[in-house]
Amino acid sequence: MVAPVKEVPGEDYDPLVARHFLTGEELTSDELGLLIERALELKEDRRGSDALDGHSVALVFERPSTRTRVSFEVGITEMGGHPIVMRPDETQLSRGESLRDFALVLSRFVAAVGVRTAAQSALDEVAMHSHVPVINMLTDEHHPCQALADLLTLRERFGRLAGLKLAYVGDGNNVAHSLMLLGAKAGVEVAIATPEELRPEAMVAELAGGSASDGGGVTLTSDPSTAAADAHALYTDVWVSMGDEEQAGPRRATLEPYRLDASLLERARPDAIALHCLPAHPGEEIAEEVLYGDRSAVWDQAENRLHAQKALLELLVARPPLRPVA
Ligand code: CP
Ligand code: NVA
Repeated sequence: MVAPVKEVPGEDYDPLVARHFLTGEELTSDELGLLIERALELKEDRRGSDALDGHSVALVFERPSTRTRVSFEVGITEMGGHPIVMRPDETQLSRGESLRDFALVLSRFVAAVGVRTAAQSALDEVAMHSHVPVINMLTDEHHPCQALADLLTLRERFGRLAGLKLAYVGDGNNVAHSLMLLGAKAGVEVAIATPEELRPEAMVAELAGGSASDGGGVTLTSDPSTAAADAHALYTDVWVSMGDEEQAGPRRATLEPYRLDASLLERARPDAIALHCLPAHPGEEIAEEVLYGDRSAVWDQAENRLHAQKALLELLVARPPLRPVA
């Protein structure tokens, strides 16, 4: 009989149990730092890892994607592996197959499974039953692969992470949550400015504060100018995330004072950069002159998805042979 993995790895991590990346909390701060350094190496040497030689990786997209899909497909291929892109509506999931059976079967074929879906609970269900690493490629609550690329971008621009200040302005969404969790863990001071009604989850702020390394932490405010003061980077994301379309009108009205524009950039350090996870809506959450201006690091940030995810795959997959744990 095939036994499911015991649980999502945490403090009592067992090297024979598949290691997942569901929120980013799974990494220690040391591992996170090493992963970013490895990603820099892989950026210098695109063919520098064959960790997926002979392996396939399933990439399950229940929601649209440009960057995540292409960066994972290209990265897996560059590491000698074979990506299998799947849409749930083309699988037996659409006809009632359970996530448990889906995970158990995929585990017999592939070395890792990436999932983009709405509910974190669905991702957790796949991870609970998977014998191979499961990677969060975006849920409504978290987007940790994006945060890895964001940290890589800060690291390459400023030569370090510890002690940097990153200000995020806009909606307290999945991207904000992952910046809080992974930024604080990397020693970055993450200042979040959102309207009161769109604040990030208090539980995520608490977790981020609890796992912060030296110099790292999270502050919450409703004032973009306070958050932006002396920041090394200003960051924003769409005002209407996937799944929020029904509240598009009220969201745009509420978020109007939270645009990343030239005057907000003036509040930051003279060498500050502008970041956006993309897709962008110029003139809405970010001014066109900022998105395409000299201080935009957005295009490097998009490319860095590739390098950061290759380092992540190497960490999760290139491990001792996995076997079910009774
Ligand atoms: N930033 C990001 O995840 O982009 P996609 O939705 O295009 O994958
Ligand atoms: N917050 C956005 C991120 C897209 C990459 C969304 O969830 O739609």
